[in-house]
Parts: sequence; C-alpha cells; structure tokens
Amino acid sequence: MDIVEKVKSEYKKHYESDAEKLFFSPGRVNLIGEHTDYNGGHVFPCAISLGTYAAAAPRTDSKISCYSLNMAEKGIITADINSITNKKEQDWANYLLGVIKIFQEHGFVFGHGFNVVIYGNLPGGAGLSSSASLEVLTAMILKEFYGLAIDRLEMAKLCQKAENQFVGMNCGILDQFAVAMGKKDYAMFLDCNTLKYRYVKLELADCCIVITNTNSKHSLVDSAYNERRSQCEQALADIKQLKKVDSLGELNEAEFNQVKQAIKDPTCVKRARHAVLENQRTIKAVAALENSDIALFGKLMNESHVSLRDDYEVTGRELDTLAELAWQQNGVIGSRMTGGGFGGCTVSIVKNDCVESFKHNISEKYTQIIGHKPDFYVADIDDGTKIIK
Ligand code: GLA
Repeated sequence: MDIVEKVKSEYKKHYESDAEKLFFSPGRVNLIGEHTDYNGGHVFPCAISLGTYAAAAPRTDSKISCYSLNMAEKGIITADINSITNKKEQDWANYLLGVIKIFQEHGFVFGHGFNVVIYGNLPGGAGLSSSASLEVLTAMILKEFYGLAIDRLEMAKLCQKAENQFVGMNCGILDQFAVAMGKKDYAMFLDCNTLKYRYVKLELADCCIVITNTNSKHSLVDSAYNERRSQCEQALADIKQLKKVDSLGELNEAEFNQVKQAIKDPTCVKRARHAVLENQRTIKAVAALENSDIALFGKLMNESHVSLRDDYEVTGRELDTLAELAWQQNGVIGSRMTGGGFGGCTVSIVKNDCVESFKHNISEKYTQIIGHKPDFYVADIDDGTKIIK
C-alpha cells in the first residue's frame, strides 16, 4: 500500500469516516549557508520529497484530535482548540498545537476543531526539518479548513514563531521558509535580513545530491543551538561599540577584520567569523552555480564544513567522519554537514556514476570507525507544502 493510501485507511480506522483532504509537506536540505539565518545572512536550501503526510477532516465540536503513525505508542492526542497550552504529555503534537495557538494570537478565529492522522517518512532528529515540515503542514490545514487569507511566506513566519515561542527552540526562518516555499528542481536563495529570495535552478550536470545520515542523535542540541545564537548576539553587541551595524550578515570579510578586536570573548570572535564568512561563501556559491561552476560550489561547501567544525564547533565526530570520508571518494564535488549540526546529516554533491561506490565505501568505513551504519538518500528536489487531494 502506498503512503497516501495508508494514511487514508488509518484515518478511517481511527475516526470511522473518510478524511476530507490529504496533505503533504516536505523536509528540506540546506546546500550552504548554515547558522546564517538568525545572523541576518543568506541561506540556500531546497525542499525534498521526503516529508510528512496528513489525512484530515473538520469536526463540528471544538476538539483537535491527532494521531501519528510514527508515534503510535502515544495514541490519539486531543486538545480543545479554545484553550491550547504547551503540555509535556501532548508530546509531538505540541508542534501542531503551537501553530494553531500562534495563528489565534494573530487574529485568526477557529470556530471548530479537526481530526488529523499524520505519517512522516523523514528520519526524525536527522536535521532535515521534520518539525518545520509538521508545522507548515498544520498551517496548510488551517488555511484550507478555515479559508484563511494568508500567503506562504506569512505561514512560514508564523510557524517559526510557534517554534520559538510555543516549543521554545530559538530557530531562524530557514526551515519553515524552505518547507513552505519549495519548488521542484529549484533551490531558494534567501536573504534572511530582508526575506527577499529568488529561485535558482539546480543544474548539477552529471551529479546528484546525496544526503547521508549519521544516525546519531545528541542530547542538548537545542541548548547548544541557543548558546551559539547568544554568542553571535554578544559579538554583534560588541561590534556595535565601533560600527553601526544591525546584523553580522551586513559585514564582509574586510569589514569584519576591521571591527573584530571589539569582540571581547575569543569564542564569540570565532562564532562571528563563521557567521560572516559563511554568509559570504553562500553568496559566492550561488554565483558559482549560476555560472555552471559546480567545482567552485563544491569547494565552498567543503570550506563551510571546516568553518562549522573549527569556528562554530557544531559538527562532532560522526559528522566530521562522514565529511572527511566523502572528501576522499571519487566523484565527490563537495560535502558538508547540513542543518543545525551535532548529529543529523551531511549533504554531498556526487557524480551519478559514483553514487554506488560512495555509499559502499562510506558505509563500510563509517561503520568501522563509529560502530553503526549510516543511511543514504538520493534527494529529489520537490515542491513546498501542498494539498494532494
Ligand atoms: C536549524 C534551525 C535553522 C538554522 C539551522 C542552521 O535547522 O532550525 O533555523 O539556524 O539550524 O543553519
């Protein structure tokens, strides 16, 4: 049974009627521009064909009833749409309920509840934005069932707010933007300062995008993330003593070198250097791709990983092992960690005829070094969140 049929039939099983609408929301992979979004820099993500499916229908009462096939052991989770709060026992559904709550705070009124059954084929905790996928999926359900006049960019912004304020993860706009705005075969070049963006066709000649999962989850990822963010804020506050600037993304390398002595803490200097140089690399990488210079694009990806490893310190043994192994393989144009870091995935550009040897060699060596296997996904670049039928 395909995924859509499975979600439909599970809906029927739990709610004894047919779902009214089916939805799909992608995950994302960021090609370059990491930890730049909350620093007013650029990112370059694309939406992928792995993601989250939902079967849903409105109810007549005020109940929200949700069930995830990935979290079957949690059973059906319910809440009243008029009194949503973050509760530990709501578990994964807090991401969904948070979006409803933030929409209400922005003036949207929901006169009734709905039922929803979810199934995701994104590996959880792999840094491919399973949370943003679920959030924007929820936003799309709300738009559809309540006839909301809201565009995709606004949906992404409110979903980010839900994650910041309801879930408590201080993320930037990268994930929710990529999931909401994705376009088949295109990546998105987004200036997170102004939210201006353009679509760039991903023409990779004889290459494809391979995502490799470390299959390692780390605890305290959110607190390390929030710590990096405040270190960058500290660096910016110090720089402001010397120069009028609103975000690290406004500085180029020469400007940064002129003001960096204002940053008091040496760790904050490293964090800020990453934010500034990664932003510059992202701008250069997109230009390289538009000039069909994939080799330069790959080189900049590799440099991005090194900066995330040495200056931002968000890689760790598993991600470094994967990147270093990738750099040794034939047919690899570039490879780097993608997403927040620590555990999660790398993204590599690999020649089509080298993908099998890439998988085989890396799997063998990574397993020897780390003690468990990685997983590989050849990414299909897909559209943003949509109604399937
Ligand atoms: C996570 C966050 C994003 C972004 C990346 C790092 O995915 O949710 O906002 O900061 O990390 O680039």
